[in-house]
Amino acid sequence: MSISDPPRANPRLSQRVERLGSGVFARNDQRKARYSARVVAAAGSSLPPLLDLSLGSTDLQPPQVAIDAMASRLGAPESAAYCLHAATLPFREAVTRWAERRFGVQVNTETEVLLLVGSQEGTAHLPLAVLNPGDRALLLDPYYPSHMGGLHLASAEPVLLPLAANQGWRPDFEAISAETWASLRLMVLGFPHNPTATTGEQAWVDAAVAKALNYNIVLVHDNPYVDLALDGEAPALLRNPAWRHCGIEFFSFSKSWCLGGYRLAFAIGADWIIKALRQLKGVVDFNQSLALQAGAIAALEQAGDWPDQLQLVYRQRRDRMAAALEAVGWPVRIPSMALYLWLDLPPIAQARGFDSEGFCAALLEATGVALTPGNGFGPGGEGWLRLALVHPVEELEAGAARIGAWLATL
Ligand SMILES: Cc1ncc(COP(=O)(O)O)c(C=O)c1O
Repeated sequence: MSISDPPRANPRLSQRVERLGSGVFARNDQRKARYSARVVAAAGSSLPPLLDLSLGSTDLQPPQVAIDAMASRLGAPESAAYCLHAATLPFREAVTRWAERRFGVQVNTETEVLLLVGSQEGTAHLPLAVLNPGDRALLLDPYYPSHMGGLHLASAEPVLLPLAANQGWRPDFEAISAETWASLRLMVLGFPHNPTATTGEQAWVDAAVAKALNYNIVLVHDNPYVDLALDGEAPALLRNPAWRHCGIEFFSFSKSWCLGGYRLAFAIGADWIIKALRQLKGVVDFNQSLALQAGAIAALEQAGDWPDQLQLVYRQRRDRMAAALEAVGWPVRIPSMALYLWLDLPPIAQARGFDSEGFCAALLEATGVALTPGNGFGPGGEGWLRLALVHPVEELEAGAARIGAWLATL
């Protein structure tokens, strides 16, 4: 991929906007809206409602202590005021205590912690803080879309490292030449990994750290699923003492505490990276309201074990949905992480020549079940589909039955 000669469909728009494109996700959204409109128009008929399994936005509840803490602070005058960095100190102190409990790591509250509006926001802004136009950055393929979007915003050049199912999705850093390593300024990864739903191993992150140190590369580890490994232990950049020299790790309240709509996350990292990201974000926005931060503090301090019960629910959903899909002839690789199934196209769809997006469109049209086409996560996602386990198990099983009945007609 080159940044030098991008298409210019509309010369009044920036090249970076054109590179972002409208994407698979926007098309999927339009299809979901069209299907829902059909359901409304066909009121009373047998058209089943949309079953949206295309977003990692959970139906599970956040801890009540977090909601109560937010509610009790909503009317306070300081909650309505702009919140500058200094006022985030209680939040940063809570994060510091969490890092000590969770990883046994002493973090400098003043220089190594930053509040974010989501790890999506953080990972999308980070490249602007550390890259110049044309700089090269390594992404795993498939990748989370904001990782690629952030590179486009910074006019950087992505270099993709394909992950393979038959390697257990392990990044093979040795497949990259020394010359390419020497050309990189940033690398972005995250295990547990979305979309492949793989917990991964600490050794993989440690290998990335070694490369980052050797080649002077900024290492981003995006870790919103740190509490949602179902098999194995989630890796973390913070487990490697070198984080302080070369990297930044992103954590989120969206998955561990089901607070996605409140947009709360944080980064812990090398002081010079945190400083640069903070400087950049200072241009873009202020911080989340102190009322929201109070909820985040309550989640960290009073509901630290919340993810444990989420794991139980997601494990049951994973196992039951996998069995239901297998029963209708769709083989499933059991994922090691919660929240998603990462599915090969079903054999009959492969035989009929469907690609990921075509299959998702046809499935939605015929059954009202929405999945995410794998190609939305990069070229390596072609031939794959992501199913989010964000409905109760009975609804998932009913969805599998709808899918099975349609597959039988192909
Ligand atoms: C890898 C990854 N990073 C970031 C995000 C977004 O997290 P947040 O809600 O904190 O922005 C997601 C959400 O699905 C994700 O899978």
